[in-house]
Amino acid sequence: MVYCKERRKYLIGWLKRIVLIGLTPPWFRGWAFAQKKHPREEAVMKLPMPTWHGTVSVEQAIKQRRTVRSFASRALTVDQLAQLLGSAGGITETKGYKRAAPSAGALYPMDLYVVVGQNCLPPIEAGVYRYEPGQHQLSEVLKDDLRSSIAMAALSQMWMADAPLIMVITAAYRRATVKYGQRGTRYALIEAGHIGQNIFLQAQALGLEAGIVGAFHDAELIDAMHIPSAHEPILLMPVGYALE
Ligand SMILES: Cc1cc2nc3c(=O)[nH]c(=O)nc-3n(C[C@H](O)[C@H](O)[C@H](O)COP(=O)(O)O)c2cc1C
Repeated sequence: MVYCKERRKYLIGWLKRIVLIGLTPPWFRGWAFAQKKHPREEAVMKLPMPTWHGTVSVEQAIKQRRTVRSFASRALTVDQLAQLLGSAGGITETKGYKRAAPSAGALYPMDLYVVVGQNCLPPIEAGVYRYEPGQHQLSEVLKDDLRSSIAMAALSQMWMADAPLIMVITAAYRRATVKYGQRGTRYALIEAGHIGQNIFLQAQALGLEAGIVGAFHDAELIDAMHIPSAHEPILLMPVGYALE
């Protein structure tokens, strides 16, 4: 019943849009589209393609994985970041759209953001970036070292601020609930778990360590990161080298 209602609302929304588009002259549509272009849309960074060969077995990665809460200040490389993102939510089909982690109905309600610290991932500047799996690239959200603000929003778990990189898994539930109703929320949360474990195991295979944090104030985090409120943060995963 809930599913039917949601679906009807979605279809009516699209019908309205189609009628509106039909009623407006083409020059207006062109102008409106140009206005809509996000000012930061240009600030994208192509990432090196991930590699699908490694020296650490899945079994070893599973055995070694632990939640780590202290990190060395050593910087990470763009190759490492690209590999982590590719394994977390990258497209793994040669000709297709399916990704590293399973997704109910292949609807992919999750987004991945990365919070990079100052001098932590050269040449990428400190800031918040959104991963675009289709193009395997980062788009810039804002430039600033936000690690302390993120740690504060995570109930002052300040150890997180030492990690050079914090990966943030968010859910846009609507992409799943439009098909599955309330159950779509459950499916999105399950998907977050898959992505999180991929990050853990890939970090291990790269000789890195990762932590996992679910305790944070949602609104504070959304506010600090300047991300859409519809992208609800589910998990934060600090990543870096272990302290010697
Ligand atoms: C959903 C979830 C939320 C978690 N939140 C936190 C957290 O906020 N802070 C933290 O230090 N650890 C957090 N953890 C890590 C757990 O404490 C950790 O997984 C557990 O102690 C088992 O240790 P291990 O991951 O090293 O095997 C979380 C783990 C999960 C799965």
